[in-house]
Amino acid sequence: MIYLQAVAVLGVTSGVLTILLLLADRFIANYGPCRVRVNEEDPFVVEGGGKLLEVLYQRRIFIPSACGGQGTCGFCKVTVPKGGGPVLPTELPYLSRDELASGVRLACQVKVREDVEVRVRPDYLNIREYTARVQAARLVTPDTRELILKLTQPSSIEFRPGQYVQVNVPGRPEPTFRAYSISSPPSARQAIELLVRLIPGGVGSAYLHRVRVNDTVTFTGPYGEFVLDQDPGCELVCVGGGCGLAPMRSIIRHIRETAPARPCRLFFGARTKDDAMYLDEFRQLAREMTGLQVHYALSEPKRGSDWPGETGFIHESVARHLDAGVERQAFLCGPPPMIEATLQVLDDKGVSRDRIFFDEF
Ligand SMILES: Cc1cc2nc3c(=O)[nH]c(=O)nc-3n(C[C@H](O)[C@H](O)[C@H](O)COP(=O)(O)OP(=O)(O)OC[C@H]3O[C@@H](n4cnc5c(N)ncnc54)[C@H](O)[C@@H]3O)c2cc1C
Ligand code: FES
Repeated sequence: MIYLQAVAVLGVTSGVLTILLLLADRFIANYGPCRVRVNEEDPFVVEGGGKLLEVLYQRRIFIPSACGGQGTCGFCKVTVPKGGGPVLPTELPYLSRDELASGVRLACQVKVREDVEVRVRPDYLNIREYTARVQAARLVTPDTRELILKLTQPSSIEFRPGQYVQVNVPGRPEPTFRAYSISSPPSARQAIELLVRLIPGGVGSAYLHRVRVNDTVTFTGPYGEFVLDQDPGCELVCVGGGCGLAPMRSIIRHIRETAPARPCRLFFGARTKDDAMYLDEFRQLAREMTGLQVHYALSEPKRGSDWPGETGFIHESVARHLDAGVERQAFLCGPPPMIEATLQVLDDKGVSRDRIFFDEF
């Protein structure tokens, strides 16, 4: 009993101390002006105390930050050879030993408290901010909204299929972004389509479910590492769950335009028939594209629903339909358990990990 009381007192004390330190850092600490040098360019001066990610953002240097700076995606890696302070425990899960040794840090976790030197990947300097007008919006499932955003400034965007943008959520005390995959093909450069699932209590998804036709939305992009193998003989396997269908739509519509005979499989896992979005669209695409095969599976089909297709988890469909030993590239997108289970199946089918790309969300 005494032991439990001691643990409780210790816990409360350390909690209070942490809160006091955070408040002191936020409201009392004054770091003064700090010089920030990026990629050995001329330095610029900022008031110390801000997160490096936000400092770079204000400077219009847009670093991938899919979790919105919450320290949970590990996308915002930059190299900080000088002035980054000690590595925080929150960074450690995302940094390899080599990265730690070479000064790689998570920009959202580094505070600018002194003069700092930063190296960012040169391709990040091409990422731009876009303003768009909501051209159309409709629900494609009870909780998923399709948005068409017509670009106004600049008026067009170049991206690769499978990439995503980060939408700015306005009206927040600090810059707030959320990542959304582009579901339109790269040939449509004047507008992008997004699919947004409403997360209860979610900041970004609620905002994108609230916006109306003609409202202005701003975003940065494009982001994402997926590069489509251009060999038309290489089979492409796309496995999506929930809104993970968004980048698959972009990829498959791109293939229809560029190589309609290319062998390509789409596996989509939904819970119920109501969630089986774009089924008619993909059926139509399969009629137009000789190489495309479409497999939808429901994990929780409602009793008595007239679903003629497959049931079960989508990785089980992948296991059923793919032969082993075929040259293929795979792109997976969806919740982590789906990705994990599908990776295992693809391993068993002999697809090497460097041929598999995945985005978890
Ligand atoms: C590369 C990438 C691409 C993405 N593309 C899309 C896309 O095309 N369409 C899309 O809808 N989303 C996509 N996401 C997810 C999106 O970025 C947001 O994370 C999502 O919309 C939730 O943000 P929010 O601000 O609404 O919720 P938050 O305010 O961030 O979270 C609110 C609460 O909900 C919880 N939560 C957050 N996400 C989920 C979830 N998926 N399921 C259950 N609980 C959750 C949080 O833990 C928190 O408690 C993508 C993510 C990544 C990394
Ligand atoms: S922005 Fe996600 S970890 Fe830094």
